Amino acid sequence: MVKRNACIFISGSGTNLKELLKSSREYNFPININYIVSSTKKAKGLKFAKLYKIPFCILNLNKIISFEYLLKELQKRNISIICLAGYMKILNKKFINKFNKIIINIHPSLLPKYKGLGAFEKVLKNKERLTGCTVHYVNNKLDSGKIILQKKICVESNDSIQTLKAKVQTKEYRAYSESIISIYR
Ligand code: GRF
Repeated sequence: MVKRNACIFISGSGTNLKELLKSSREYNFPININYIVSSTKKAKGLKFAKLYKIPFCILNLNKIISFEYLLKELQKRNISIICLAGYMKILNKKFINKFNKIIINIHPSLLPKYKGLGAFEKVLKNKERLTGCTVHYVNNKLDSGKIILQKKICVESNDSIQTLKAKVQTKEYRAYSESIISIYR
């Protein structure tokens, strides 16, 4: 299989990145991970970039200079898909338009419910019985692009933010890999 080159954007613990790195090692998984972008040098997920020896950079994309640098780096590496995995910055519209290839994101709720931050808190506050995760294309509006795949979990009466997060994240790992497979099927 000819694998496409992918770039993963992170800001935090990078557990989705870790799972994508594992999937990408399978011969029939449609992407290789060639580059990692972090919005902060404090992101714990950068340890996976180092472990797997993937080149990475730390960029503030609000600065025009970083944004142009990144576009060149992506082009140089022939990146055809960007996967946002816990990337906590809003992508600049100009960047989205200029990149002009696939950008996808994983969000910890059943979109269109609970866009933005604080999804678990809102799920508990509204006494939802079901929640989950969504993988979607990225467009110019926050958490609003076309949905690729969703996975559900049941919310129990004794769930806390921590238990919900743990349950949803377990689903996220499968959801992200399955979505990438489905994009290239
Ligand atoms: C995930 O729950 C994802 O849905 C959200 O940010 C979290 C990232 O976790 N967008 P990690 O950095 O992959 O561990």
